Amino acid sequence: MTQVVRIEQPGGPEQMKLVQVDVGEPGPNEVQVRHHAIGLNYIDIYQRSGLYSLPLPLTLGMEGAGVVEAIGRDVHHLALGDRVAYASQPPGSYSELRNLPATSVCQLPDAIDFETGAAMMLKGLTAQYLLRKTLPAGGLEAGDFVLFHAAAGGVGLIACQWARALGLQLIGTAGSDEKCALARENGAAHVINYRTENFAERVKDITGGQGVKVVYDSVGKDTFEGSLDSLRPFGLMVSFGNGSGPVPPVNLGTLGAKGSLYITRPTLFTHIATREGTQEMANELFDIVGSGQVKIPINQRYALADVQQAHRDLEERRTTGASVLLP
Ligand SMILES: NC(=O)c1ccc[n+]([C@@H]2O[C@H](COP(=O)([O-])OP(=O)(O)OC[C@H]3O[C@@H](n4cnc5c(N)ncnc54)[C@H](OP(=O)(O)O)[C@@H]3O)[C@@H](O)[C@H]2O)c1
Repeated sequence: MTQVVRIEQPGGPEQMKLVQVDVGEPGPNEVQVRHHAIGLNYIDIYQRSGLYSLPLPLTLGMEGAGVVEAIGRDVHHLALGDRVAYASQPPGSYSELRNLPATSVCQLPDAIDFETGAAMMLKGLTAQYLLRKTLPAGGLEAGDFVLFHAAAGGVGLIACQWARALGLQLIGTAGSDEKCALARENGAAHVINYRTENFAERVKDITGGQGVKVVYDSVGKDTFEGSLDSLRPFGLMVSFGNGSGPVPPVNLGTLGAKGSLYITRPTLFTHIATREGTQEMANELFDIVGSGQVKIPINQRYALADVQQAHRDLEERRTTGASVLLP
């Protein structure tokens, strides 16, 4: 029997309970991982609250790192005892031990510890696909301006550092002056406290009236309109999250009126649907972390049993950088 965090119905953090389950043997395409650390992500809150509806009862958690304890017969890229890390569907990483599809499970380089591995896969692979694969027409070049909301968060601090490594001028928004300072320390070229300043106006000032080539917006409802107003003509709006609530339906005519804008609503799980694709992205992430250009800031650690507090801190905007749960 192993300990997992389950919800029986969607709702607040109090819905999460520690229970004992028997995980059984891994299926033919699965691997069994004993977690040393578990990544906490904002998507866990959408799944817990019911914004993203999933079959119940549900063990939450999409990210983790640990050691392979058993392998399905059709899995060939892993061996017993391997140190591994993953971002993966379906949820289930809030657990001591689990079985999961092997597709997106990667060997963890020796130089990367388990906590870092657990904190970097979902958030780091997201920063990778955003800054390297979700680009405006003509791509991005050193010196270009991009706007990145929630820049002091888990994905945000990784993106600040990665953008600096690419030579981009990342304008980061955050909800306090302390968070703004942290984003700047991590590589944001400019920062805006979007609780006290009109960020679209500030972006226009910073860019000499031009606007940015791309907005990476995970805040959703509260920032959507201002994000469109921050783009230059033909700019790209990347709406990749709902921190403040989902974006209401969009009138496509608005995109024409605001300068023939492009819009996309990507998810990491399309990018990591294949083993080859996942490994290619992970290699780039491991390389940039290995080079020291991107450090994974683990600013909160919680025992697995304290998961309710971890969720409260994340949704009440008390965290910065990444958080891990320790089984
Ligand atoms: N589509 C994808 O592939 C994908 C993958 C990974 C993550 N995401 C999204 O990216 C975002 C960041 O994920 P994360 O796990 O790294 O979380 P996070 O950024 O560490 O935490 C979310 C942050 O959003 C900001 N925020 C703004 N308005 C908010 C509100 N009304 N309520 C709560 N938070 C608010 C807060 O920062 P401030 O206080 O600075 O405003 C908060 O710290 C999430 O929206 C997540 O869903 C999407």
